[in-house]
Amino acid sequence: MERCGAVVSCVFAVILVLQLGLTPIMAQQEQQIGIAGKEVILSCKAINNQKDGTCTWKYKYKEVSSTIISFSKAQVFKGKAPMTHRSELNSNSKKLKVSDLSLDDAGIYTCACYSPVVSISLHVFKLTISSNGHFLTNEDLELTLMQNSSHSQPHLSIKLFNINNDIVTTEILQEEAPQKYILKLKQLKAIDSGTWMCHVYSNSPSINQNISFDVKVLGFEKERLEIIYTTVGNTAILSWRLNFRKIKWKEGFTGKLNWEPQGNTAIHELLNFSVTTHQELHKTKKSNHIWFEISEGKTDGTMDVKIPKVQLNHSGQYKCQLEINGRRTESVRALVVMQVTAIPAGPLSRGGKMTLLCQVSGPLPSNAHLLWERVNGTQMEMKKSKQHEAKVEVNVSAPGLWNCHLVEDNNKKISLNYTVEEAHVWNSYAVIGIIIGASVLVIGLACMCIITGMRWQRRRKRARRMAQAKQYLLEKKTCQCQRRMYK
Ligand SMILES: *[C@@H]1O[C@H](CO)[C@@H](O)[C@H](O)[C@H]1NC(C)=O
Ligand SMILES: *[C@@H]1O[C@H](CO)[C@@H](O)[C@H](O)[C@H]1NC(C)=O
Ligand SMILES: *[C@@H]1O[C@H](CO)[C@@H](O)[C@H](O)[C@H]1NC(C)=O
Ligand SMILES: *[C@@H]1O[C@H](CO)[C@@H](O)[C@H](O)[C@H]1NC(C)=O
Ligand SMILES: *[C@@H]1O[C@H](CO)[C@@H](O)[C@H](O)[C@H]1NC(C)=O
Ligand SMILES: *[C@@H]1O[C@H](CO)[C@@H](O)[C@H](O)[C@H]1NC(C)=O
Ligand SMILES: *[C@@H]1O[C@H](CO)[C@@H](O)[C@H](O)[C@H]1NC(C)=O
Repeated sequence: MERCGAVVSCVFAVILVLQLGLTPIMAQQEQQIGIAGKEVILSCKAINNQKDGTCTWKYKYKEVSSTIISFSKAQVFKGKAPMTHRSELNSNSKKLKVSDLSLDDAGIYTCACYSPVVSISLHVFKLTISSNGHFLTNEDLELTLMQNSSHSQPHLSIKLFNINNDIVTTEILQEEAPQKYILKLKQLKAIDSGTWMCHVYSNSPSINQNISFDVKVLGFEKERLEIIYTTVGNTAILSWRLNFRKIKWKEGFTGKLNWEPQGNTAIHELLNFSVTTHQELHKTKKSNHIWFEISEGKTDGTMDVKIPKVQLNHSGQYKCQLEINGRRTESVRALVVMQVTAIPAGPLSRGGKMTLLCQVSGPLPSNAHLLWERVNGTQMEMKKSKQHEAKVEVNVSAPGLWNCHLVEDNNKKISLNYTVEEAHVWNSYAVIGIIIGASVLVIGLACMCIITGMRWQRRRKRARRMAQAKQYLLEKKTCQCQRRMYK
């Protein structure tokens, strides 16, 4: 009986101790938030009262409890809790640091020296970014937010802030809420690279937490189609600036530059390139295209193509393409070349007509047109191209200076001159005079030649006769001859 009584009183004492222990837990429990992958520091405030003696950090989820670390003045004992190997104790402050948090670390953490016991409820959030936060331009981002705590989880309101601290509206999928939320961001741009913020809010329990995350969008500084206007014979430079240095992109990747000539379905590869993990750009120009030059720079991430003497047939689309693990993005420059021609070419004859044709190599955007303008002459004249027509012509019957402009949104982008010259009247007389003069000269020369020729022939005949006479004289007797001659 006595033994039995002792057991009962023992149980009693245990219950009493448990109750004494539990009451302060309820009274003092506070909440702390942890982010998966990061660390959290939990303070054991009671330590100030008791400098020596044994204290214990414990972890509890639902009904299961385990020791993380137990320590006295001189010694530290490691327990068997799941986060023990990631936990460190500050021997002065007795603060517990748990690093590389995971969702599983959510629960109640208690620090017990003597009462009162400090109890902290750790609420863990985990934010996962698709592709590990590494994207190419125009790709979509998916963000997954998960939470865990030993209590029931609250419904959260979530907001996203971009690198400029502006709120970004996103689609939020809540199928597995409140444990899991999925946020979608469409069509990232290179300028989205940087640190974003995910703001998590709940009223009860009170949560007001920012979770930052890094986004890297590999691409071009000017992503949109850019139209470069130039005139025949000019120098054109098409340029692309890759942002891999700016965003500190550490993976290697490759790319190429393709050219699709205007009005032609063929695709020509002009060059290819690779970027190393050390952020060095190596370009290789294809040898069969000699009409353009490339810049040599290795470190600045620019891709410049210089066309020294632009021809109409250089126009078209130039597409710079990046590739990484089968994913691609590109940025296009369209080269539009303007040319002015006169039909027929040359000066305008008196009373004659000529057609001045101004044209560009490709279709014009809807906000652009061509304009012929006479800037010097007897009267002001102007002619505008029809919508979507890449040429405009004027019929000219008087000399003057004509200017063709390519106008985009009322801005003159490029212009070309053509001066119509008159074939002057005195010029025609001079030409006739020269022709007549030349004819006279030719006839005169011909006569002289004939006369000289005749004289020469006569002289030859005489010489021949003299020779015949000489021979005759040699053959016959000289005296006889003499006699006959002086007769
Ligand atoms: C929350 O944490 C507990 C304790 O580690 C774990 O058993 C549970 O799987 C976690 N829940 C989620 C959704 O991760
Ligand atoms: C969270 O971040 C946003 C954007 O940077 C900021 O406006 C807000 O004040 C922050 N809130 C907290 C609780 O830090
Ligand atoms: C570039 O093209 C050359 C052949 O012209 C080829 O040998 C090289 O592997 C290519 N480089 C890349 C990065 O594709
Ligand atoms: C463009 O045309 C000229 C002749 O008019 C030719 O010599 C040149 O090779 C052409 N250029 C290209 C890139 O096709
Ligand atoms: C046209 O230009 C010439 C010189 O370039 C000038 O002498 C003449 O006066 C101009 N005519 C008109 C109508 O402006
Ligand atoms: C110019 O003249 C030609 C005939 O000489 C004619 O066919 C054409 O339509 C004219 N163009 C304009 C713009 O008046
Ligand atoms: C057109 O000609 C004028 C005068 O000859 C000159 O000042 C101007 O620069 C020229 N414009 C172009 C686009 O060649």
